[in-house]
Amino acid sequence: MKRLGILTSGGDAPGMNAAIRAAVRMATVHGMEMVGYLDGFAGFVAGEYQPLDDRAVGNQIQRGGTFIGTSRCPEFLDVAVRAGAVRQMRADGVDGLVIVGGDGSFRGALALADEHGVPVAGIPGTIDNDVYGTEETIGFDTAVNTAVLAIDQVRDTSESTGMMFFVEVMGRTSGAIAMHTAVAAGAAGVLVPEAHEDIANVVARLRVSIERGKRSHIVVVAEGEEAGGAFAVGKKVGDALDHPYRVVVLGHIQRGGSPTVRDRVIASQAGALAVEGLAAGRSSFMVAIRGGRPVEVPLADVVRGGHPEARLDLLQLAHHLAG
Ligand code: F6P
Repeated sequence: MKRLGILTSGGDAPGMNAAIRAAVRMATVHGMEMVGYLDGFAGFVAGEYQPLDDRAVGNQIQRGGTFIGTSRCPEFLDVAVRAGAVRQMRADGVDGLVIVGGDGSFRGALALADEHGVPVAGIPGTIDNDVYGTEETIGFDTAVNTAVLAIDQVRDTSESTGMMFFVEVMGRTSGAIAMHTAVAAGAAGVLVPEAHEDIANVVARLRVSIERGKRSHIVVVAEGEEAGGAFAVGKKVGDALDHPYRVVVLGHIQRGGSPTVRDRVIASQAGALAVEGLAAGRSSFMVAIRGGRPVEVPLADVVRGGHPEARLDLLQLAHHLAG
């Protein structure tokens, strides 16, 4: 194997650049070249890439986003589009592919391996931490830290004024950010897509807090929870308690920013092992992080596994510790 391609796909996540840097530099260690496909599978389909050498990935480890761009690429679901992309890849002398993304991206990767024998390695990169088989995804730690920092600031106003705050965090189908944020920010409640929560319970919990004389009240709401997000939840709870409230939607600020140490370290480990695995002739694996260490797991298991089990123990914990 002489030349590898790397692409980032789906939502960008802090630490993707650190993963690209690690993959490129490990390719150098193994005497291989690397190219970066632009804007995810879209660039792969169009044959648009830039050569990446050790210097090209300098000054990237601390940067959020992904400097080679990303996209969601529905055309890649088409078998003929994939075949055309592989022809182009071979014409460009690229022998294997590293894909940084979530489970949708890995389905595309596995299709390339199954249909055309392309050696592929996956790296889990999404702020949602919803990839089967890995304890952590690149970007999650940074996103949670960003959300917690924001809530710490919101709490000052909540404490000063007594107003309730409903803070919406990302996660259309995953409550991982919401539950970790709720525990770390000491929230009074948390609503997630994976669990039904009666609004009456939220109301009851906040009523007890208000009666106890608590002044700051934070409820974390994942964007995909069933009531329809923080505005809907805030209105229902605010009306029921006849208590002033405000809504804060954190949105895409959770996706950006400089990656935390944790994300830089796991991204570096994952980028390096992805290339080492391909260099050793292995394929169709994802680098999972388990117990803080990178390990290869079959990509087919990741894709088949679907949505990982939600950590509802953290939801319980947040509620028990709300005081
Ligand atoms: O998958 C990451 C994520 O940030 C989700 O948490 C969120 O629901 C979604 O992407 C938003 O995607 P977009 O930027 O395409 O609106």
